[in-house]
Amino acid sequence: KIKIVTIGGGSSYTPELMEGFIRRYQELPVGEIWLVDVDAGKEKVEIVSRLAQRMWDAAGYPVQVHVTLDRREALPGADFVTTQFRVGQLEARIKDERIPSLHGMLGQETNGAGGIFKAFRTIPVIGQIIENMRELCPDAWLINFTNPSGMITEAAIRKFGWKKTIGLCNVPGIAEMKEPENIGCRPGELVYQFAGLNHFHWHRVWDKDGNEVTEKLLEHINERNGGTPVNIYQAPFPMELLHSMKMIPCGYHRYYYNADEMLAHSMEEFRKGGTRAEQMHRVEKELFDLYRNPELKEKPEQLGKRGGAYYSDTACECISAIYNNKQKRMTVSTENRGAISCLPADSIVEVSSLISAKGAEPVAWGEMPPAERGWLQVMKAMEECVIEAAITGDYGLALEAFTLNPLIPGGKEGKKVLDELLVAHETYLPQF
Ligand code: NAD
Ligand code: G6P
Ligand code: MN
Repeated sequence: KIKIVTIGGGSSYTPELMEGFIRRYQELPVGEIWLVDVDAGKEKVEIVSRLAQRMWDAAGYPVQVHVTLDRREALPGADFVTTQFRVGQLEARIKDERIPSLHGMLGQETNGAGGIFKAFRTIPVIGQIIENMRELCPDAWLINFTNPSGMITEAAIRKFGWKKTIGLCNVPGIAEMKEPENIGCRPGELVYQFAGLNHFHWHRVWDKDGNEVTEKLLEHINERNGGTPVNIYQAPFPMELLHSMKMIPCGYHRYYYNADEMLAHSMEEFRKGGTRAEQMHRVEKELFDLYRNPELKEKPEQLGKRGGAYYSDTACECISAIYNNKQKRMTVSTENRGAISCLPADSIVEVSSLISAKGAEPVAWGEMPPAERGWLQVMKAMEECVIEAAITGDYGLALEAFTLNPLIPGGKEGKKVLDELLVAHETYLPQF
């Protein structure tokens, strides 16, 4: 039987993860699940674990859900370690989003200054987790969901040497699920190919006869059900740009392609109801009030208000594809190995891949046109600076990352935001 360890077990997404495992129980026989959290998440993880146990009991499967605040107790013999933690909890995300906003810059969880600081806080911790795994479960797979998912995965594989790491995100899956109906097709009928970085990838699509339908889908991209997660404001993409690139950008590209409109919208929201992080704080309270109810035995609908909805389908499907050696095609963060020719072979990229017992095998995309090549090389260079700065605590490198990031203007204001975030997050940044 399979042993799953989930780091950040107190996440409100855990019931969704349980639902994914319960649905797949016949093909993926889970024996025990360990939810790991820290002191600050003790109450949450206890509430979630009781709901998780009720879900397994209601399904009639003999699975035991354990809770611990000491990951060394959970890790021995783990087959899959899934990570969904948030260093500093939602309070830290509020700072990530508020501080840039107060300086007129985009305050967003994984993009701009906030995204860089989420990486600064998280990378040292993923390093410690891997150190423990090396000792306690040397054969386990690390299935990372923790944001910024691409950079955390790159740190895990390239810096901390855990080759058996796969990085996940729900964005590609949502596109595959929602887009086809816009052209009268059902999910699964079309062939998707994705390439790029996490929260910064494009895709092309073909029908079952091999005709490319990318441009047909592009016609519907600005519709409400265009395939974007609910946390992203759907500013309409400039169609001339899309017709020129002949690829479908991901929802997060709006922060770059529609930078002024996205910033204006985010500032308006900020003034009205606070940052998205503050709004999610309220949603989380609602969710935990529901989770506390001993009558609740399934994932509540309200979880759909969170942008990460459906992630468990990706996580559980990926784990099952490894366990059952499925050769299943999924979009994941993994080593490039030439799939995107303009990026280094050992860079971590988010690409369509075949998932089997040996992990993810990227499908070759090939050349990127000049504009996308330029974006990718800048964004990857920025990520590399962030990761190195997160490990060394090198201030100059952190400033280089800030300067490279297209959502942070170069000069004094950007530096001020860097300095303020360093002070605000001091407790979680021992490396600086
Ligand atoms: P959350 O704020 O509820 O955090 C989850 C739990 O992690 C909390 O209970 C917290 O106490 C715990 N935690 C913090 N530090 C820890 C540590 N060192 N060890 C163990 N646990 C620790 O977060 P959330 O909103 O549920 O999101 C969880 C994570 O998943 C975040 O990193 C978020 O960005 C990410 N996420 C990723 C995607 C994706 O597409 N990849 C989608 C949604 C969320
Ligand atoms: C998206 C992303 C995640 C992101 C999340 C934010 O869909 O793929 O990586 O963290 O949703 O959602 P939230 O509801 O917390 O703002
Ligand atoms: Mn994501």
